[in-house]
Amino acid sequence: MSAHRDNKKTTAIDILARKGGEPLVCLTAYTSLTAQLLDENTDLLLVGDSLGMVLYGLDDTLGVTLDMMIAHGKAVMRGSSKACVIVDMPFGSYQESPEVAFRNAARVMKEVGCAGVKLEGGVEMAETVEYLARRGIPVLAHVGLLPQSVNTAGGFRSHGQDKQEADRILADAVAVAKAGAFATVVEGTVEPLARKITETIDIPTIGIGASPACDGQILVTEDLVGLFTDFTPKFVKRYADLGQQIADAAKSYSDDVRSGVFPGPEHCFAMRPGADDDDSADD
Ligand code: KIV
Repeated sequence: MSAHRDNKKTTAIDILARKGGEPLVCLTAYTSLTAQLLDENTDLLLVGDSLGMVLYGLDDTLGVTLDMMIAHGKAVMRGSSKACVIVDMPFGSYQESPEVAFRNAARVMKEVGCAGVKLEGGVEMAETVEYLARRGIPVLAHVGLLPQSVNTAGGFRSHGQDKQEADRILADAVAVAKAGAFATVVEGTVEPLARKITETIDIPTIGIGASPACDGQILVTEDLVGLFTDFTPKFVKRYADLGQQIADAAKSYSDDVRSGVFPGPEHCFAMRPGADDDDSADD
């Protein structure tokens, strides 16, 4: 029996090998269509638990469940053929113990077929990262600003402003790298800290709001394309204005429906010639 592996797909090992090389291009994806549109131009697609806020309108990521992540992970896998797909472990699915983390991460790997999982945390999560990595689950770590700890870590703000906090975050990055993570997200940190982390650890750093000093960058795709209604973080560069385009399209559609312009004859199905008189032919 010969095992088949899709060798076009980027793996966690391929991402690890990019340390210090051409910058890694990473984006979030939550749906099959988005994955199809992004796949060609990205190295890594993250099914981020940010989907709770972006798609479901939650105030933070804490309400996201494992079932939600699995459903969206499967959709993204259907839409991608080349990028390395990583699925976020949601709040409560991995913090309790390495064993619980393994059980839930293994379920994600089996049901989604993704290349690995991401989990938030540094020194306190190193044992779990090692437990998963040693048992065949590639782990993307996440240090700096940790959205799942928003209630205990003081909200969405830049990290590493003072030496004590910068030293702690550097220690987090060193711990997860030593534990066997294949890369780490560095979120919301000042540039000197992102640079120090990138120079110190031997796995790629993927920055979000963490300066160009990282080995790669990630953004939430909806932020990149302007598909939101309110706040844009400082670190986001907007490349399109899809939110406004959608609102404009809805306005034009509503004007056309109300004035009777849509649907026009070109949008209507016509009867085949003679199709309406053959019933009476037999009578
Ligand atoms: O959930 C997410 O989308 C993330 C990225 C912002 C890194 O963790």
